[in-house]
This record gives sequence, C-alpha cells and structure tokens, in this order.
Amino acid sequence: MATGMSLTLCFLTLRHKRPKARYIIWPRIDQKSCFKAMITAGFEPVVVENILEGDELRTDLEAVDRKMQELGAENILCVHSTTSCFAPRVPNRLEELATMCAKYDIPHVVNTAYGVQSSKCMHLIQQGARVGRIDAFVQSLDINFMVPVGGAIIAGFNGSFIQEISRMYPGLPHPGCAHHPAHPGGQRLQETPGRAEEGEGDSKDKSIQVKLRSFQNGACWLLLLK
Ligand SMILES: Cc1ncc(COP(=O)(O)O)c(C=O)c1O
Repeated sequence: MATGMSLTLCFLTLRHKRPKARYIIWPRIDQKSCFKAMITAGFEPVVVENILEGDELRTDLEAVDRKMQELGAENILCVHSTTSCFAPRVPNRLEELATMCAKYDIPHVVNTAYGVQSSKCMHLIQQGARVGRIDAFVQSLDINFMVPVGGAIIAGFNGSFIQEISRMYPGLPHPGCAHHPAHPGGQRLQETPGRAEEGEGDSKDKSIQVKLRSFQNGACWLLLLK
C-alpha cells in the first residue's frame, strides 16, 4: 500500500458517501501512480491544466470552479490535489481549493507524497484545513521514512473518516500504529501506545513514530505498510 493504492483506498471510501459521483477533479501533475489511483478506483479524472505564472505552473482556480459548476457537486467524488511535485509545477493552491471544496461541499484528498518533509507543504495542509476542507492527505513511507517495502500514511482531521478508511483496508494496519483513537474535530496528534513506546518495537517503528510527531497539525493517521 504505497501512495497510489492509499489514494485509491481514500476514493473507494468516499464512494460510499457519494454514490452518484463519477468524477475526480485533478489539477494536473505528471506522475503516473496518482493518475492510476483514480482509474483503479473506477472514477473519471477531470484533468485541469495548470497556468503558467512567471516560470511556475500554478493551479487554475477559475477552471476548477467552472468544472465544479459544470459537473455538479454531487457528481464529483472529490478534488484530488498535490503538494509535492517536480519543478516547474509548484504545490497546488491548497487554501483556495479547500475553501472551494467547503463552499460546494465536495471532499478534498491531498497527495503529499513527499510533503511531510517540507514545512511549507505541511503548512499548506494546515491552512487548507483551517480555512476550508481537507478530508485526507497521503504521504509516502518509502520516500519519507525509507521503509524498504513501500507504504503510506493516510492522515486527516476527522477521526471517524480515517476509521472508515481503516475499515476498508483489506488487511491489518501496522500493529501498534493503527489509526489514532477517534477524536472528532481533530486533536493534536498523539502516539498510540505501541511496540515502539514499550521498547519492544524495532528501530523503524520508533523512527516512524518520532517523525510523526512532526505533523503537529491536529491530524489523526493510519499507517499502511506493504
Ligand atoms: C507526486 C507523487 N505521488 C506519488 C508518488 C508515488 O509514491 P510511492 O513511492 O509511495 O508510491 C510519487 C513518487 O515519486 C510522487 O512524486
């Protein structure tokens, strides 16, 4: 369950809440696994091209807004945005996208594959969740935590949604690091009692838990290895 499959799991979980939805609005990023994540989940990606501002490719907010109106909110599963990416594309305008998602009542899933390493990306997520709507954000374990088998952390600000995703997962979340106990409204991240804390875990567990502290953003999380 690396980033792409974890995104698929988020989309499949949202499907139960939005049975009519067929489309995912996706500000373009040229990375295959996040594109395939939408197809695998059975949705039609609606690609919104970025606009060139100076030497940067930035989110075309007007085009996203037009698509939301054109397709109709109930037909849209979510907006699938991205923080970390390759230049010249800069992170999506998360605050504005999150605000639009809240306005139209459309879920918002953020691919932040590399983002947990970047205070700028984490700040964008915090701000987005503060001013608007972010339902889940997904970060890669192999990229950020050097986990050799691949994996991802699905995090969010609503404990019950993260639990729903956890229930959809056809396997067990990582022992000792399962989702954070339900906390409506999102409390600050706390470590779940796990092997690492008890001193029985391997050093990888420990390093993941230590790094998770750096979220500091009120998120709850679900750790998926393999
Ligand atoms: C934006 C983006 N999404 C997803 C991925 C895939 O991440 P993973 O290695 O966890 O599958 C990458 C990896 O380069 C990426 O850059």
